[in-house]
Amino acid sequence: MEKTFAIIKPDAIAAKNTGKIIDMIERDGFTILRMEKIQLSEEEAKVFYAVHKEKPFFQEVIDFMVSGPIIIMALEKENAIADWRALMGVTNPENADEGTIRKLFGTGIMTNCTHGSDSPENAKTELGLFFEDLD
Ligand code: CMP
Repeated sequence: MEKTFAIIKPDAIAAKNTGKIIDMIERDGFTILRMEKIQLSEEEAKVFYAVHKEKPFFQEVIDFMVSGPIIIMALEKENAIADWRALMGVTNPENADEGTIRKLFGTGIMTNCTHGSDSPENAKTELGLFFEDLD
């Protein structure tokens, strides 16, 4: 079994797509080990997206991620990291496959409704930032 870290972003919460996204997660066979609705601070967002700090969109993604509540989740499944990324679809919803979460609910490259860890190292780091009690 593998764990990954997932976020339902402010755009999806504002659009009331939370339930539909959680339903897709459970139907795809994930177990939701932890789930919490939180408001990120600017500092927390900057730590979380530190890997993107040199990117031109860095401050924009920080502003977006603190613009409203988010839902953070620890998900478990065999191949959880790859399977959650497949279920979300690619970063830009315009290029995402039909039936993926980002195709269905994303509205732009920034407002792409969900986040998922992209590697085992980042899953460990991201889970550790928010769910200290998980091993
Ligand atoms: P996420 O998978 O959470 O990782 C970084 C986030 O930055 C990304 O989703 C988008 O919400 C946002 N973003 C904005 N512009 C870009 C871009 N040009 N490339 C990648 N991510 C972007």
